[in-house]
Amino acid sequence: MKRIYLDNAASARMDEEVFEVMKPYFCDLYGNPSSTHSHGRVLKTAIEKARKTIANRLNAAPSEIFFTSGGTEADNTILHGVISNYSISTIISTEIEHHAVTHSIEHICKEKGINRVMLSVDKKGNISLNALEEALKAHPKSMVSLMHANNETGTLLDIQAVSDLCNQYEALFHSDTVQTVGHEPFDLQKTKLHFMNGAAHKFYGPKGVGFMYIRQGYAIPAMIHGGSQERNLRAGTENVAGIVGMAHALEKCYANLEAKEKHLWALKNRLKQGLLSNFSNICFHGETEEGKSLSTVLNVGFDCGGEEKMLLFNLDIKGVSVSGGSACTSGSLIGSHVLSGMNADPAYAMNAVRFSFGIQNTLEEIEDTIQALKEILH
Ligand SMILES: Cc1ncc(COP(=O)(O)O)c(C=O)c1O
Repeated sequence: MKRIYLDNAASARMDEEVFEVMKPYFCDLYGNPSSTHSHGRVLKTAIEKARKTIANRLNAAPSEIFFTSGGTEADNTILHGVISNYSISTIISTEIEHHAVTHSIEHICKEKGINRVMLSVDKKGNISLNALEEALKAHPKSMVSLMHANNETGTLLDIQAVSDLCNQYEALFHSDTVQTVGHEPFDLQKTKLHFMNGAAHKFYGPKGVGFMYIRQGYAIPAMIHGGSQERNLRAGTENVAGIVGMAHALEKCYANLEAKEKHLWALKNRLKQGLLSNFSNICFHGETEEGKSLSTVLNVGFDCGGEEKMLLFNLDIKGVSVSGGSACTSGSLIGSHVLSGMNADPAYAMNAVRFSFGIQNTLEEIEDTIQALKEILH
């Protein structure tokens, strides 16, 4: 059976060209980048070239990019770091952030006695800019952490408007941009957020490597202590192959952004239309239109009259790999903190599926997926 992979928001298949670029850094170029001899210097040069590539694509300075082991480490380092370096009294966020953010915030607030303001979101997962402004007015010296795109629903934040508001009220703004780096264009000279992060495996690079962006003039302490790598901000011998692969993957994504987006939107729109014409009992969780949502994610809820259809399991049996918007195990429980944060209708959320697309997917695979769903649900 030919399997169909529609779980690219969890991790995308690595581009083979990226793998080729990484290969020399395993066996041929094997020094330590911190060594001052030539074996080390070659690697240091490769790391700095990768930093420059990533910075250029974001319109940032290379000195504002710091390599990490991925998105989670970057979220943790930024959130903990900002709280320890700045006198922040309130963190403003939402319930629907990735757990790397929600759990970090919970931990910080409990440990440091910091006030937490959770903005509510509408049925599509949007915050209200007015509510954000009111919160910023009421809580000076805040840190704001709002994700650029939700990984379960694909709903996009108006990152420019949030950035402008945070600067107007002198709040520090962190955006978890793990789902948008490599997918949405960034101009950090225009969008003056203070902290953001990326993870290579979400844009056809390797797993286990990512980066944080820290705007010039802002500083946070290290979370991992040891050597002086990454200008004392992230100790540990660098994942050179990963860093080089990440930069190449990012470069390739942005070089082909228009064609890539066109293909992904064709896949997403075809699935959306195909589902609407074959099923009367569905809803879409989150925004689904271009400009308001990611091309890579479509979260669908099926109302099956209160019956749990084990869609992930049944799709898997039919050869389709997807994730759930809901991990519920019984009755009306909504397992996804994102869907419950959006007050999703339990009738639909009980059988929710996140389809997430990648450049390797084809329209034929979308047709096969619709057929598989028809066989399971009709
Ligand atoms: C929005 C978001 N933030 C953070 C992460 C964590 O990234 P990583 O898997 O690289 O630690 C993910 C991964 O699923 C994500 O989607």
